[in-house]
Amino acid sequence: MSVQDRVAIVTGAARGIGAATAGLLAKGGAKVVVTDIEAALSEQVVADIRAGGGEAIALPCDISSVEACERLVADTLAHYGRVEILVNNAGICPRIPVDEMTEAMFDRMMSINLKPIFFLTRAACNAMKAQQFGRVVNVSSTGGRIGGVHNATVYSATKGGVLAMTKSLARHYAPWNILINAVAPGAVNTRMFESVGKESLEAYVDTVPLKRLAEAEEIAQAIVPLCSASMTWVTGATLDVNGGVVMV
Ligand SMILES: NC(=O)c1ccc[n+]([C@@H]2O[C@H](COP(=O)([O-])OP(=O)(O)OC[C@H]3O[C@@H](n4cnc5c(N)ncnc54)[C@H](O)[C@@H]3O)[C@@H](O)[C@H]2O)c1
Repeated sequence: MSVQDRVAIVTGAARGIGAATAGLLAKGGAKVVVTDIEAALSEQVVADIRAGGGEAIALPCDISSVEACERLVADTLAHYGRVEILVNNAGICPRIPVDEMTEAMFDRMMSINLKPIFFLTRAACNAMKAQQFGRVVNVSSTGGRIGGVHNATVYSATKGGVLAMTKSLARHYAPWNILINAVAPGAVNTRMFESVGKESLEAYVDTVPLKRLAEAEEIAQAIVPLCSASMTWVTGATLDVNGGVVMV
């Protein structure tokens, strides 16, 4: 498994699954672009990577606009001259009951969870095409597989969209040897899952065959092999990383 010297953009990398993925990629020798709407936390992740002997820069941005997606790739190219790996991880999951969902929040969730899967991937792949090599990993969710629980209806729709987009884009970019896959985590012990109440949490854990939540690092351990140069024949796939809670 090798990501040595590859330039990797990881979105939502200031904490949680994104920070763990950025750290693991850097450990494998990748040069990591840490990007997130949280600038100070992004700088901290970069400092931690450098302290461990890795290479990283922070390019903070709000990933919800097409302009931001295109600028992020342009800034990465300006700094490193290439990009070979993209991990589309940034996401939000506000817990909103069906009857309380607003149009503004619906649009915001689409803009952060789904829009960059298309526009950032397109911008990155346009840079990857010339080198005839690329790896893209999109972070979906079990909600995208089976529909969401805990007031996550629209969230689940965005994550189902991530899976459909992964397959379509995988077909589109295959001729340039760009492989595009998804991971679908179950509940992970990050800030995102904190909003679920204690009772719901216990009820959820009871349904997990491995009887616990995942840690962010365990999701990173599934993402990074899909970024590897030695992973050459898997594209358009979804890897379930959920302790067995959903088997499809
Ligand atoms: N935690 C879980 O239980 C769980 C389960 C399945 C899937 N996921 C998915 O994993 C991914 C990472 O989530 P996490 O659990 O690490 O949560 P998290 O909230 O810790 O991390 C999400 C990151 O995305 C960033 N972000 C949010 N809006 C952004 C924007 N507009 N532009 C740039 N960055 C933005 C946040 O600042 C944060 O650093 C998300 O896509 C999430 O949907 C999480």
